[in-house]
Amino acid sequence: MNLDLLPLQGRRTLYRWQHGQLHDHLRALLPQWREHALTITSQDLDSNASFVNYVRHHQVTDPCTGQTVELVEKSIRKVAFLGSQEARFYRHPDMLSASTQFQYPACIGVIETPWESLIFTDFVRGKPPRMLGIAPQLARGIAEQEALSQGYLSQQPAHKAPLFWSMDFYRPWFALRPRFNFARCLPQLERLGLHDERFSGLAEQFKAFTPLLARLGRAARSSPKCISHMDYLQKNLFVDKGQLLLIDWSEVKVGRVGFDGGAYLGALFRRKEMPMFLKAKQQFVDAYRQALPEQFDPEEALRNLHYMFLLNALFHCLRPETIAEYQEKQRMPMLRQKYDYLLGLIGH
Ligand SMILES: Nc1ncnc2c1ncn2[C@@H]1O[C@H](COP(=O)(O)OP(=O)(O)OP(=O)(O)O)[C@@H](O)[C@H]1O
Ligand SMILES: [Mg+2]
Repeated sequence: MNLDLLPLQGRRTLYRWQHGQLHDHLRALLPQWREHALTITSQDLDSNASFVNYVRHHQVTDPCTGQTVELVEKSIRKVAFLGSQEARFYRHPDMLSASTQFQYPACIGVIETPWESLIFTDFVRGKPPRMLGIAPQLARGIAEQEALSQGYLSQQPAHKAPLFWSMDFYRPWFALRPRFNFARCLPQLERLGLHDERFSGLAEQFKAFTPLLARLGRAARSSPKCISHMDYLQKNLFVDKGQLLLIDWSEVKVGRVGFDGGAYLGALFRRKEMPMFLKAKQQFVDAYRQALPEQFDPEEALRNLHYMFLLNALFHCLRPETIAEYQEKQRMPMLRQKYDYLLGLIGH
């Protein structure tokens, strides 16, 4: 659907007190359909995120033109009537509209009920990208996304402040999540070291990351704020005619410049072998440095990148599920190699 042709009131958040029918939601969001009966074919899409009830692909026959309109509906469960981060993000459709690097499926609108947020976006098509190969392109996209959102956030009126405050990375409801607390995995590593001598004594060494992360976290906190997507996985990206399309804002935060690069590199580190990771990291950092606009200090951005990389990489490599997976596949030497790499970063 070409959303430039949509009346402005088509892109908005509507509030409902009750669960409603899809037809009614679409007619409410797209006023040109208000008087018409709709023919819709729907199919569930794969989705794993916690709090997501379902993600659905709908094909609607446009009653005005007879053409098929394809859209995606994502239902996110509310906790204590609180709306999701993703729905909050979509209240700002103009924030990234000047983007030239990434493309984003347009948001048709959001329906909020006391129990769920329903997010309607354009359905997009493309190939899954090669996550190592796109490092430079991703770096340029992230630099632009950070610059656009930093500009947008810094111009927000005071009454919008509570919304962005609640999305800030440093709020306790994010900071206390297990994925940002690697230290709770260390007792299992200690136990592993008792019967596998390749891993003995490592838990003790990893403890040195606690003060280092605290220092990096404090430094990042006062650096420029921007929107951070935080979830650069293959399933959240499409390539279409050389352009990268980014979806799935379920991990979005008001982060700090550099965080997204660290999130991407953390995910790569988890999945790829060391030589390939190191090559992609170099390419990413080079392209990111070059693309970062003057409003940011590159050293500060790279320090924040390092912080987010460590948070992600430490948690993913140390958690018991990862250790079990490497044991099962008899790849413990590779895990030890990753640990050595991380331990080598202490003091950097
Ligand atoms: N706008 C879209 N166009 C095309 N496909 C989409 C779109 N939005 C979502 N999808 C498909 O649906 C899947 C799930 O959507 P999404 O990533 O938003 O949900 P999620 O619950 O956060 O999923 P997960 O945790 O598995 O990443 C995507 O991986 C993608 O294949
Ligand atoms: Mg996803």
